[in-house]
Amino acid sequence: MEIKGSVVLVTGGGNGIGEQVVKFFAQRGAKVAVVDMVQKNIDRVVADVKAMGGEAIGVQANVTSEAETAKFVKATVEAFGKLNVTVACAGIIKDGTMLTLDKETGKVARKMGLDKWQPVIDVNLTGTFLTLRDSAEAMVNGGWPGLLVTISSVNKAGQVGQLNYSSTKVADALMPKIIIGEFMMRGIKNIRCVGIAPGYTATPMLTGMNQDALKAILADVHLGRLVEPEEIAKLIGHCVENEAINATTLEITGGLCYEHGIAK
Ligand SMILES: NC(=O)c1ccc[n+]([C@@H]2O[C@H](COP(=O)([O-])OP(=O)(O)OC[C@H]3O[C@@H](n4cnc5c(N)ncnc54)[C@H](O)[C@@H]3O)[C@@H](O)[C@H]2O)c1
Repeated sequence: MEIKGSVVLVTGGGNGIGEQVVKFFAQRGAKVAVVDMVQKNIDRVVADVKAMGGEAIGVQANVTSEAETAKFVKATVEAFGKLNVTVACAGIIKDGTMLTLDKETGKVARKMGLDKWQPVIDVNLTGTFLTLRDSAEAMVNGGWPGLLVTISSVNKAGQVGQLNYSSTKVADALMPKIIIGEFMMRGIKNIRCVGIAPGYTATPMLTGMNQDALKAILADVHLGRLVEPEEIAKLIGHCVENEAINATTLEITGGLCYEHGIAK
């Protein structure tokens, strides 16, 4: 599949990794749909793409809503006549341990509530499902070649303090295998699905964190720096062009080796 002339939809396209994915594809001649919750970020990214001579539309939507995922897929097809690549980049974190103990008594003082659990499941898991489902529906009915991309994380391996987040990211990593199994069963030949599992990436979430904590993270990264969002965009671009990559999740971490051992 060629990038030039293709239509690419990116959820979470208003910031961080999603923004760079949008710009990467727009610079190479794709038409892009920027989907996000935050209108001012959508406007900024769409204006940047247009300033570089690219074609873009923006759609404000919440990926957890069935009505809204249907809406942004429809808006993309109406604007550009087809849909070829969907990157489900919208994601959130709400870290915390399952139990917090009272230091004096050793008894449970607090539990992780559904206020921290459910939104992460809703955005990272249900949102990815709805985004891919409705994109696949449009691709199948339109007869267009397609690529569906889930964004997992290296923390799919299981990160303490991220029971909610890691649970969604391990599921996002598994989706390509299951979806392509289903496509084989149904005789759907021209749509592929891959997952991308980034390591620690230079988005505002990480660059703005405590610098000592950041240093500790980087001590485990062979490359000695955060992964750049553009490097993730490049890998997704490669996945578009290389049809042998399918039904799998690729890690891009800079060489994350906890305690200089084997990456878990
Ligand atoms: N930054 C990292 O180190 C890192 C590492 C591994 C995986 N990831 C994953 O990459 C993806 C992007 O992360 P990022 O670091 O760019 O984050 P970010 O916060 O910079 O961007 C996420 C975007 O998603 C949008 N969003 C959130 N909830 C939404 C919803 N319900 N509907 C529509 N849009 C919504 C936000 O408005 C934001 O623009 C996430 O899935 C994240 O889990 C990030």
